[in-house]
Amino acid sequence: MNHDVAIVGLGRVGLPLALCFADHGLRVLGIDNDQERLGALRAGRMPFRETGAQELLERNELALSDRIADAAQATHIVITLGTPSFSHIEIDISQIRQALDELAGELHAGQSLILRSTVAPGTTDYVAAYLRAHTTLEVGSEIHVAHAPERIAAGRFVEEIHTLPCIIGAVGADSGALVGELFSVFGAPIVQTTPIQAELAKIWTNILRYTNFALPNLLMMDCEQYGANVFDVIELINRDYPRGGIARPGFTAGTCLRKDFAFSEERSYAPGMLLAVSRVNESVPLFLIRGLIRRIGALEGRRVCVLGLAFKADTDDERDSLSHKLVRLLERELAQVAVHDPLVASATASFEDALSGADALIVATNHSSFRSPAALAQIAARASPECLIVDPWDCWGFGQLFAYVAELAPEAGAQ
Ligand SMILES: NC(=O)c1ccc[n+]([C@@H]2O[C@H](COP(=O)([O-])OP(=O)(O)OC[C@H]3O[C@@H](n4cnc5c(N)ncnc54)[C@H](O)[C@@H]3O)[C@@H](O)[C@H]2O)c1
Repeated sequence: MNHDVAIVGLGRVGLPLALCFADHGLRVLGIDNDQERLGALRAGRMPFRETGAQELLERNELALSDRIADAAQATHIVITLGTPSFSHIEIDISQIRQALDELAGELHAGQSLILRSTVAPGTTDYVAAYLRAHTTLEVGSEIHVAHAPERIAAGRFVEEIHTLPCIIGAVGADSGALVGELFSVFGAPIVQTTPIQAELAKIWTNILRYTNFALPNLLMMDCEQYGANVFDVIELINRDYPRGGIARPGFTAGTCLRKDFAFSEERSYAPGMLLAVSRVNESVPLFLIRGLIRRIGALEGRRVCVLGLAFKADTDDERDSLSHKLVRLLERELAQVAVHDPLVASATASFEDALSGADALIVATNHSSFRSPAALAQIAARASPECLIVDPWDCWGFGQLFAYVAELAPEAGAQ
């Protein structure tokens, strides 16, 4: 074999994984059909931000190809392709199906096929069955199939690949040990289980987070209804209480959280519960706009500054960010929307221009650079003196979801 491991799909999951394997001395083939991405990598440039990844790229050799079939030149084939959800609450496995079709005729005895992508329960067994149907290889003894889900948070890949337990749900007796050996190079604990349990553990890791954030978001809406302060109520719940606590509100989305719940929902015995969780998180932009209108009146022709397009703090990943929904909803109110984000690839206004004369400002992403007293002082200097600040993240610690800049700025000046 020319390569120890092939990574199919050099996205936010696949590329850092490929680089980490290479950094541990494995001969790695990275495969992607995005020519721009391959071009960036050939030029030695990370196509997106991931802490520590640029250094790994500079000190490691990564063979590259745009043909999935080339993955058959590696002992281990790791699939890190996208698994979106159709809008009718069903996993879209077309990218995985395409990979299987391109690989089926090329596979040899002794290889392993590992699903690293997040998948609906039953998908790993489906992949095994598909290989049985489309190859002459015996699954479990000749071709080893497993699900080894990715649970690392964006921005922490290089650190967490070495510490987070690596769950492996393998099909057939020998597959688990073989795939475990591959991932053991990272030194993190290897936890063997069944494919179904690995799939459930991954999607429920994300469902738990999605639900955990929906609760404070719903509480935020309740507080507005009753004239209460959400940050005060959260403090009352959490202070010195020994049985857990509630998270804080915010814009809860991103490619994983926004769709992974659907992989449970598509066959749920209690359909609707997770859809309701999604509805709460998805309603936050509209809820904030309505609160804004209640306080300052119609937004037609008013200047509204949106801070942040990324789906979470300090990432340049804006896929499935709720900020885009917020901007669309503001535009439907005929507001003049100006957006600033210092990290994302989309073109946005400068901080100064976005703030200029703003009648309202919504903090959509709590990037570190927004959270400083200096940033607040800039807002006070450039926005309209009557500017209403909407800050579900409580970036500056004033504990006010809606506050006029004049209420915050004197205190900001004193800091
Ligand atoms: N992004 C995350 O933080 C994260 C975390 C955990 C799990 N996951 C899961 O991992 C999987 C991958 O996520 P991602 O964010 O890296 O996705 P991504 O869209 O960033 O990466 C997929 C890559 O596959 C490439 N690709 C698509 N079709 C191809 C083809 N036919 N041939 C070759 N390359 C092709 C794309 O160009 C892209 O670079 C998904 O299942 C996702 O749910 C993602």
